[in-house]
Amino acid sequence: MKRSIIVLAAVAGALVNSVAHSDVKSGEKLFEECRACHAIERGVNGVGPDLHGVFGRRAGALEDFRYSPALKKSGITWSRQTLDAYVLDPQKAVPANRMPYGGMPEARDRADLLEYLQQEFK
Ligand code: HEC
Repeated sequence: MKRSIIVLAAVAGALVNSVAHSDVKSGEKLFEECRACHAIERGVNGVGPDLHGVFGRRAGALEDFRYSPALKKSGITWSRQTLDAYVLDPQKAVPANRMPYGGMPEARDRADLLEYLQQEFK
């Protein structure tokens, strides 16, 4: 009896560990959807602006990217909360912005994605 409890505890511990890791891993995979247009390296603008150090950045702030007036005037500072709303539904969060992305509906996916991005800029 005692032994099986110990085994169970070990299995539970391993499970908790793998879940904690899979967040960032799955977020890295999900970022493939963004990578088509966004780099995380500074100064590498593609169809979209680079996302280097995006947490704490003002929306539309990069000098060398031509943003839509809507995004520039949005007054948003990017945080977990504002990014979550934008990735969920870009057009609803910032009407008339020009990001051609339909949105990521699953809250869990967005949490993983933002966890990955946050890890990148630690
Ligand atoms: C098909 C191309 C494309 C895809 C895919 C895409 N984006 Fe964008 N993104 C853009 C463009 C273009 C803009 C600029 C929009 C504007 O100026 O209105 C933008 C803007 C942004 C901004 C604002 C940056 C700033 O400097 O203010 C963030 C944050 C962002 N995207 C995150 C994401 C994330 C996260 C994903 C993946 C879930 C994603 N984007 C997917 C093209 C894309």
